[in-house]
Amino acid sequence: MPAHPCARMCTRVHVCACVCMCVHACARVCTRVQAPPRARRALPLCVLRGRGCRGYSAAPGAGTGAGRWGAREAERGGGGERRCQPPPTSKLSFNSAAPAAAAARHRAWRSPLPPAARGARSHRGPAGSRGRGRGAAAWARSLCPWIEACGCRCRSQRDGEPGTPRRAAGNALQPPGMADKCSEGLLNGAVPGERGKQDKSVKRGNWGNQIEFVLTSVGYAVGLGNVWRFPYLCYRNGGGAFMFPYFIMLVFCGIPLFFMELSFGQFASQGCLGVWRVSPMFKGVGYGMMVVSTYIGIYYNVVICIAFYYFFVSMTRVLPWTYCSNAWNTPDCVGVLDGNLSSHAAVNLTHLLNATQKRTSPSKEYWRRYVLNLSDDIGNLGEVRLPLLGCLGVSWVVVFLCLIKGVKSSGKVVYFTATFPYVVLTILFVRGITLEGALTGIMYYLTPQWDKILDAKVWGDAASQIFYSLGCAWGGLITMASYNKFHNNCYRDSIIISITNCATSVYAGFVIFSILGFMANHLGVDISKVADHGPGLAFVAYPEALTLLPISPLWSILFFFMLILLGLGTQFCLLETLVTAIVDEVGNEWIIRRKTFVTLGVAVAGFLLGIPLTTQAGIYWLLLMDNYAASFSLVVISCIMCVAIMYIYGHRNYFKDIEMMLGFPPPFFFQICWRFISPAIIFFILVFTVIQYRPISYNDYVYPTWAISIGFLMALSSVICIPIYAIYKVCRSEGDTLLERLKNATKASKDWGPALPEHRSGRYAPAFSPSTESHLEVQPLHPEKAQSEAASASPVQGSNGLAHSQDSRL
Ligand SMILES: *[C@@H]1O[C@H](CO)[C@@H](O)[C@H](O)[C@H]1NC(C)=O
Ligand SMILES: *[C@@H]1O[C@H](CO)[C@@H](O)[C@H](O)[C@H]1NC(C)=O
Ligand SMILES: *[C@@H]1O[C@H](CO)[C@@H](O)[C@H](O)[C@H]1NC(C)=O
Ligand SMILES: *[C@@H]1O[C@H](CO)[C@@H](O)[C@H](O)[C@H]1NC(C)=O
Ligand SMILES: *[C@@H]1O[C@H](CO)[C@@H](O)[C@H](O)[C@H]1NC(C)=O
Repeated sequence: MPAHPCARMCTRVHVCACVCMCVHACARVCTRVQAPPRARRALPLCVLRGRGCRGYSAAPGAGTGAGRWGAREAERGGGGERRCQPPPTSKLSFNSAAPAAAAARHRAWRSPLPPAARGARSHRGPAGSRGRGRGAAAWARSLCPWIEACGCRCRSQRDGEPGTPRRAAGNALQPPGMADKCSEGLLNGAVPGERGKQDKSVKRGNWGNQIEFVLTSVGYAVGLGNVWRFPYLCYRNGGGAFMFPYFIMLVFCGIPLFFMELSFGQFASQGCLGVWRVSPMFKGVGYGMMVVSTYIGIYYNVVICIAFYYFFVSMTRVLPWTYCSNAWNTPDCVGVLDGNLSSHAAVNLTHLLNATQKRTSPSKEYWRRYVLNLSDDIGNLGEVRLPLLGCLGVSWVVVFLCLIKGVKSSGKVVYFTATFPYVVLTILFVRGITLEGALTGIMYYLTPQWDKILDAKVWGDAASQIFYSLGCAWGGLITMASYNKFHNNCYRDSIIISITNCATSVYAGFVIFSILGFMANHLGVDISKVADHGPGLAFVAYPEALTLLPISPLWSILFFFMLILLGLGTQFCLLETLVTAIVDEVGNEWIIRRKTFVTLGVAVAGFLLGIPLTTQAGIYWLLLMDNYAASFSLVVISCIMCVAIMYIYGHRNYFKDIEMMLGFPPPFFFQICWRFISPAIIFFILVFTVIQYRPISYNDYVYPTWAISIGFLMALSSVICIPIYAIYKVCRSEGDTLLERLKNATKASKDWGPALPEHRSGRYAPAFSPSTESHLEVQPLHPEKAQSEAASASPVQGSNGLAHSQDSRL
């Protein structure tokens, strides 16, 4: 049976792919042929009427397994060469290792081309590097008659202006997007069959290089929690002994989950919604991730805005929270610098001790009574704190400007935002460690209390800290990895990033506890009196300790600048997650070109939704969101994700995908973790969270029941997406019985797989033969889509300015 001449070639080799895409654009002249019953529904087999297509038939089963082989070959480099050679016979059988001689290649290549093309190709030196580009352009132009044979217009011929080789090549073929890609591959010096620049997704954009991805992910994973949560947890849960469960949880749960999300996103090059083509019924998981990311994105930027506020007010000679002489201070206020603990308190020892017991620090009063002007109840919103509102605007503008060109711009910003916090941490560490009492503080932080290690709470805390701090199930990891090149080694990256994240946490503990130890020493109190976590640490305890240092405004500026950078790194990814999900979901050229406006829209919406959090009751709402919206639901989402990939899609399928992408299957340890250990640990975290549950309170304030109900509703709102979407999907899917519908709904959709056509080999190869093993192998052509693409006059502008159409995968 005659089949598409590129049926096998195009997924494997860049140039072949380009030709095939050109052909694909002409799909409207393709005729449906009688296909065997199994493939008929899914696959309008496409046969070209053009004469170049004669004499070819697909080799049944030729593509099976070639993908895995191909991935390994590609790893070694240059392996693609062989696969572009149709054998001397008319059968396309790529498993037969044909000799790699250039002559044979040319002979093989010439055959599907029209005479004009053959002529043009003959003056291309196979190894000439400079002449190659020009020759390639000529060759691309010379395809025109062949393309026209399929009914496509060749613009350069019609316009009659070849221009520069590149433009000529770009104009020569329709649709232009494909043509550009075609010429790009050729002008890069890729001969047919050579491995060209085939690893990039031009339409979505990629990271500029691998460092950008690693830095962004580090910036994403390393957040405020590393500074304000981990040290306190460690101190509370047995000091150095806590490191042990922490490390175990990192190895068995953190790194495997991290690797899973990275590989998941990278394989499909899709955001957190698009990846669920793997099993459409579970797309609700992606919506759940989006909802959680929305909540986190809203309140996270409010925290950044408060850091901005402290950053700005630190630019004075005397920090405003140093003394108790301000209008907002109460009689209970005793500053650490008020040497005789005076002004209000009587100077005698008994009273002094009493005063120390119930003293409120000026930094606390500054925070509660001035910055927040805290109201007495969560329902009593009071007025919007205008300084905070201004800072919220500033932080959203900063986030938006950094993301204005998507990962292209944020990838550059992270060179600074992800590295500078380490500089600041080191400065603060050196400053802190040289203070009197610092060692006492660090001893508190690190001294192992081995008896605590048998406590289930310690293990639960370790697991949840790992889980929350790595940012699993936020969707951000999937999104970031989706901008990777297909063959990037995300296995290595996931290990680097998760270990960096945990090392940062440990390191931040030194910074925090050295200064807290110094302050406790200065006040002559136990460190438990000054140790705190969350906003209480970052905006009360630590700033207070800083006032004890000479040139305290400098340290304060550094510290808050670091907090801002840590927060921004996470905030970028949260925003990018939402934007990518929206853009990928709509998926048409119109919105891809307007990605900046989508970003702007999301930023404005986030700003507006953040305004309630800048009111006098804002901090109550912020903590409520932090405690409810982003805790249980993340665990549930992550658990379902693991199960869906490992058990619904199938671990074997997934391991094969990884092998195709990385060239090696996931190590045995990860296979075991993914299948059994990590889901079990996640389940343990869930049980632990439920057992440990205590209604939230903030200092003395106990939240009313209605507020807690709202918290639960927020938690539910993300998880509920999963069953709702699943039910919707089952109802919409085909099948007579419920079981059939379920099966159809969980089955991987046809466009699941590598996004770029040249990576779709093996099971994802566009199969034109009836000998398909599964639905995964058949890729329908979309004649109507191709038509509209051909009709659209302007090329699709990708974010890096090149044009390429992704939809034209064969
Ligand atoms: C001690 O307290 C008195 C008022 O009781 C005040 O005038 C004085 O300045 C304080 N001394 C120091 C060193 O703060
Ligand atoms: C110490 O203060 C307490 C209460 O303020 C007072 O009763 C007591 O007389 C004071 N002692 C001295 C020695 O001043
Ligand atoms: C210490 O404070 C408590 C209440 O906070 C009070 O009952 C007690 O009398 C005080 N002691 C002295 C010696 O002032
Ligand atoms: C705090 O809010 C109250 C009203 O709730 C207002 O009277 C007061 O002036 C505010 N304080 C500051 C420092 O803004
Ligand atoms: C999916 O739906 C089609 C069309 O109704 C049906 O023929 C097929 O059996 C279903 N597949 C499964 C796995 O149930």
